[in-house]
Amino acid sequence: GGEGPLAGLRVLVSAGGTREPLDPVRFLGNRSSGRQGVAVAAAARDAGAEVVLAAAHLEVAPPAGVELVHAGSAEQLRRACVRAAARADVVVMAAAVADYRPARVAETKMKKTEDGSAPVLELVRNPDILRELVDLRNTARRRQLVVGFAAETGEAGTTPVEFGRQKLARKGCDLLAVNQVGEDLVFGQDTTALTVLSARGGDEQVLEGTKDEVARGLVDRIARELAAVPAG
Ligand code: C5P
Repeated sequence: GGEGPLAGLRVLVSAGGTREPLDPVRFLGNRSSGRQGVAVAAAARDAGAEVVLAAAHLEVAPPAGVELVHAGSAEQLRRACVRAAARADVVVMAAAVADYRPARVAETKMKKTEDGSAPVLELVRNPDILRELVDLRNTARRRQLVVGFAAETGEAGTTPVEFGRQKLARKGCDLLAVNQVGEDLVFGQDTTALTVLSARGGDEQVLEGTKDEVARGLVDRIARELAAVPAG
């Protein structure tokens, strides 16, 4: 901790893409580089917070001056987040968590079949960590600001932001940062645009720039949200 708008506060940030094991050498993963979450962790640190970074797979170096907790799979990330959230004033779920994982993890490397047939993977649903953290916060009546991310491609008839509003309500978090994604947009890129939606209503805020600039804007917004909601 240090000086700044988040001085004296504990912030949990999750970042990166989970890897759901199939066998000792294979996994199901996603395109998340972890850049945005790492940038948020660094911005929160610079704002004076004590930061825990729950890191799934990252393609960038984690920032100095934060407590790093490694988590490979969604289940490992869930445990790391539940533990750290118990003492956090702010939670930012920037990790790209796999919605599904293989139903079974083979103990030894899966072999090619003899008869040329292809295996069929059975998947099961992963827990929604963000929703679980919101539930835990509500049950414990903790004064904690919970921020989610949403990577939306948009869908026929709805804009990514309209979709985000529905997701904000469904997840029960306080802020939702909506990213428009596609193969060449956002993932692994240095610049981005985020639309921040608040459960308290009001106008949406658009943050544009490098992921570091956007992260600083999001941290400023978090500080203002905390100041606006009376303690109690
Ligand atoms: O539902 P969707 O995956 O779009 O929601 C994205 C948000 O929910 C992100 O903040 C992500 O970190 C979080 N999430 C989660 N657990 C999951 C899936 C998503 O915490 N299983």
